[in-house]
Amino acid sequence: MAEKIRGGEELSEQLKAVSVAEFFEKNRHLLGYENPTKALITIVKEFVDNSLDACEEARILPDIKITVKEISPERFRVRNEDNGPGIVEGKLALAFGKLLYGSKFHRLKMSRGTQGLGASGGLLYSQLTTGKPAKLSSSTGKDIHEIELMIDVKKNEPHVISQKKEKNEKRWHGLKIEVDAEGRYIEGKQSIAEYLRQTAMSNPYAEIVYEGPNGKAKFDRAVKELPPLSKEIKPHPYGVELGLLRRMIMATNARNMVGFLTKEFSRVGKGSAEQICKLAKIETKRKPQELNHEETERLHKSMQMVKLVAPPTDCLSPLGEKLLEEGLKKETRAEFVVAVTRPPTVYRGNPFQVECALAFSGELPKEGSAQLFRFANKVPLIYHVSDCATTESVIDTDWKRYGFSQSSGQLPQGQLAILVHFASVWVPYTSEGKQAIAGYPEIIKELKLALQEAGRRIATYVRQKHKMREGLLRRELFDKYIPELAESLEKLTEKKKQSLIEKLEKIVKKGGKVEGEDTKDAKES
Ligand SMILES: Nc1ncnc2c1ncn2[C@@H]1O[C@H](COP(=O)(O)OP(=O)(O)OP(=O)(O)O)[C@@H](O)[C@H]1O
Ligand SMILES: [Mg+2]
Repeated sequence: MAEKIRGGEELSEQLKAVSVAEFFEKNRHLLGYENPTKALITIVKEFVDNSLDACEEARILPDIKITVKEISPERFRVRNEDNGPGIVEGKLALAFGKLLYGSKFHRLKMSRGTQGLGASGGLLYSQLTTGKPAKLSSSTGKDIHEIELMIDVKKNEPHVISQKKEKNEKRWHGLKIEVDAEGRYIEGKQSIAEYLRQTAMSNPYAEIVYEGPNGKAKFDRAVKELPPLSKEIKPHPYGVELGLLRRMIMATNARNMVGFLTKEFSRVGKGSAEQICKLAKIETKRKPQELNHEETERLHKSMQMVKLVAPPTDCLSPLGEKLLEEGLKKETRAEFVVAVTRPPTVYRGNPFQVECALAFSGELPKEGSAQLFRFANKVPLIYHVSDCATTESVIDTDWKRYGFSQSSGQLPQGQLAILVHFASVWVPYTSEGKQAIAGYPEIIKELKLALQEAGRRIATYVRQKHKMREGLLRRELFDKYIPELAESLEKLTEKKKQSLIEKLEKIVKKGGKVEGEDTKDAKES
């Protein structure tokens, strides 16, 4: 029997809007919640990243406490507390109870978070797996506000279950957050403890206290200074995609094209704006909102063609060589550490800066491959090692030149730790999980230059160390035989043994040169 044809009217009834919360409830893997182990780490990571962002922006040295407790099999309570600026009462529920709500999306500035999805995504996962509300408590230094919060998934709106206000005699400021969630706890390379250890490495100005199911760990503050505050910049024409350009056109209140280009972009003056318009065959007096589809596309193309100065780079906040060295040294207890911070540069209109540090010897493992620590905007990347531009650059660097053995396509071998930090206003992650950096040639080039420079410095150190050790060994050997040699020479030359010993010692002290004055002396003697 032929199947009944269904009409468009009937099928159209199924058409309806999907809230962003509903979307992520179904596609939680996009936010890092694809399995219980990763889910637990992701929650901690999102809370800690937020605390560090908030403290850094408020210029407060971060004190962060994290607790992860198993409350029943495969169910955990995660608590995070910081001493940051806190959030005002009116925005507390929105910041955590609405996805795509945040303070970082609409600005171009280096920070850990960008999308307004991290913490709210954690809350969504928590309520999805346990049905429990999140507990939040915050103060900006005045009263303390406490709320129990759930997300209305259909509307993507916060749903406050309970709220209370308390006096704040100690003038505490900061944020406390607690959620219950399904998860699995593991130790090892991709664990919460390791994530926090690496966070302590790239944020040596933070104090992090962790209480996990298997015990406590404290990561002390190594330095008492924060890296410089990054500035906000406007997008550079080379880095703007067509979709963003369209949105900027709709949102601008500039009345003509020259106004739009000079006001909304960095490095576009009146002359360049006129040049862009001329190339795109658009009148400079046109109202931006009146541009049609083809004109917008022409504008986009012309923006890439006109020669412009590179964007400003004070939007970046690299760690700097001193903080890198302190951070890596304190967490690896290596004997020697070097760090290299490259000057800022640009890929596709986006400013970025690369840094690396190498740690050698000391308490680092003696066997196996070098340890690799990868960071983007000071956040450790612990998954997708092999897909990342940082790994590619380390493998592509010729470590044999710096005295380390290396098989082709592999990390170097030896008592070595390699830290690589990529800092940018726009990190080109390979996926929403934010775990690997895409291998743009400009980025790979910078990474390799940094690694080579650090490699050279390590090699110099190792060479000097070997030289000193060799000298010492030679000295010991000669010291042992000098009296015997002097005795034989005394018989042959009839010179006094004591004077022979003195002369021989003089030769050894000068590095045991075969040629030259001393040898002549010895021969004469
Ligand atoms: N500990 C905190 N202290 C102060 N403000 C915070 C804190 N945690 C979050 N916020 C505020 O809440 C907003 C939402 O946080 P959320 O993690 O959801 O997004 P985000 O950090 O902006 O971006 P991302 O999705 O990349 O994490 C932040 O933009 C920030 O303004
Ligand atoms: Mg965040």
